[in-house]
Amino acid sequence: MQLKTLFLGLGWLSVCWAQLADTTDYPIGPLTSSSTKWAKKVCDITDYGAVADGATDSGPAILAAFNACSSGGVVNIPLGTFALATWVTLNGGSAWAINLEGIIVRTGTAGGNMIYIEHSTDFEIYSSRGEGAMQGYGYQFHEQGEYGPRLLRLYDVTNFAIHDIALVDSPAFHLTLDTCNQGEVYNLIIRGGNEGGLDGIDLWGFDIWVHDVEVTNKDECVTVKSPANHILVENVYCNWSGGCAMGSLGTNTDISKVVYQNIYTVNSNQMFMFKSNGGNGTVTEVTLENFIGHENAYSLYIDAYWSSETLAAGDGVLYNSITFKDWTGTCLNGAQRPPLYVLCPSTQPCTNIIIEDFAMWTESGSTEYYKCADAWGSGYCLKAGSAHTEYGTVTSTVTSAPSGYSATTMPGQLTAGLGLTTSIAIPTVPNTFFPGATPATARVYGS
Ligand SMILES: *[C@@H]1O[C@H](CO)[C@@H](O)[C@H](O)[C@H]1NC(C)=O
Ligand SMILES: *[C@@H]1O[C@H](CO)[C@@H](O)[C@H](O)[C@H]1NC(C)=O
Repeated sequence: MQLKTLFLGLGWLSVCWAQLADTTDYPIGPLTSSSTKWAKKVCDITDYGAVADGATDSGPAILAAFNACSSGGVVNIPLGTFALATWVTLNGGSAWAINLEGIIVRTGTAGGNMIYIEHSTDFEIYSSRGEGAMQGYGYQFHEQGEYGPRLLRLYDVTNFAIHDIALVDSPAFHLTLDTCNQGEVYNLIIRGGNEGGLDGIDLWGFDIWVHDVEVTNKDECVTVKSPANHILVENVYCNWSGGCAMGSLGTNTDISKVVYQNIYTVNSNQMFMFKSNGGNGTVTEVTLENFIGHENAYSLYIDAYWSSETLAAGDGVLYNSITFKDWTGTCLNGAQRPPLYVLCPSTQPCTNIIIEDFAMWTESGSTEYYKCADAWGSGYCLKAGSAHTEYGTVTSTVTSAPSGYSATTMPGQLTAGLGLTTSIAIPTVPNTFFPGATPATARVYGS
C-alpha cells in the first residue's frame, strides 16, 4: 500500500507519518497489488505434493510452489490442515505472495524457524478470508520445560505486508522482522503460552508500520530492537502479555524516530519498558502516547540497569528526547512497584525526557510512588535544567488518585494466562485492538 494514499486519507495522522521516512522515496508495503499477483500466476501447494490431511509433510511442496512463483505470483495454501514436518527457507523472490487460507500445523521437532523468508522484495503473506493460521503446538515443548522452533521469521525483506492471519502457540518466538524495511504488519493476532521466551513481534529495520495487533503470551508484545528508525506502532492490544518494549539494548544502540500510540495493556509485566544494562549509542526522538493500562506490574519504565541482561561495554545507552504523553488507567500495586519509574545510567544521564498527563492509580492500597534516577527533562520526578549530571534517586509519594486516571477496559480481557500443557485454540482476528479504534486498514474479508 502506498503511504501517500494513506496520508491523504488520514490527515490527522500526519504528525505520526512524519516519523516514517519520505514515503515517496520509501513506499511502505508490497509494490504490486495482490490481484496482479493472482492474475500473473498461482502456485497451489496441492499441485506440488501437499495433502490437507494434517499428516503429510508440506515443507517440500511449499518450497516447490515458491520456486515456481518466486518471480511473480501467489503461493496458495488452500483451506485445510497442512502438516509441517520439515522447515522451509524461501530465499529471494519478488512480486510474490503467500495466501494462507488453511492452517499450517507443526509436526516436526527441529529448532530454527518453521518458515524463514530472506532477501525478498514486494512480498505479502496474508489470508484472503482472514482465517489462515500457523499452529505451533508449543505446549508439547513447554510442558517439558523446553522450547522449540520459532514460527515465522523475515530477514532482509523489503516492501512487505503481513496481515489477517493468526500465529498460535509458537514453541519459541512468533514473528521476527530482522533487518526488514518498508513493511506493514496489521490485523494480526498472536496467542502464545503464559511464559517468557515466547515473544510476539520483535522488529528492527526502518520504515515499518505495525497496527491493529493483539498479543497474548508472557513476553514481548510489540518490541523494537536496534538498529531501527522511522517506526510507527499503533492500536495494539497486549491481552495478557509481557508488554511492549525497546531492547534489550547493548553496545552501538542506534534507534530514532519511533512512535507508539493507542496501546492497551492488561495483565502484563509493563506498559512500556526501555531495557539496557551498560552499552552505548543512542535512543532518540521517541513518542509514547495514549497508553491505557490495567493490572500491570510496571507501567512507564526505563531500566538502564536491567538485571536480566548481561552488562555490555560502555557508559550506558543515551536516552534522549523521549516523550510520554496521556497515560491513564491503573497498576497492580503502586506502593510496591512505581507506575512511573525512570532509572537512567548514572554515567550517562537521560536528557530531555518529557512526561505529560500521566494519570495512573494503584489497584491495591491507597498510595503509590514515582521514582527517577539520573533523569533530566520535565514532569513528575524528572529533574529540570541543563546540567545533565548524575544525581542519584529521587522518589515522590502520591497519596490520592490523579485526576482523570480512570480508563475504560477492553471487552473480553483474559483472566488467566494461556496453557503451557494444553493446546491453545486458534482465535479469530478481532475487529478492534484499542478502545474505540477501528482498524486503520479494513479487514480483507467479512468483518
Ligand atoms: C561503543 O563501544 C564500543 C566498544 O567499546 C566501541 O567500539 C564503539 O565505538 C562505541 N560506540 C559508540 C556509539 O559510542
Ligand atoms: C482476550 O483474550 C481472551 C482469551 O483468549 C479472549 O477470550 C478475548 O476475546 C480477547 N479479547 C479480545 C477483545 O480479543
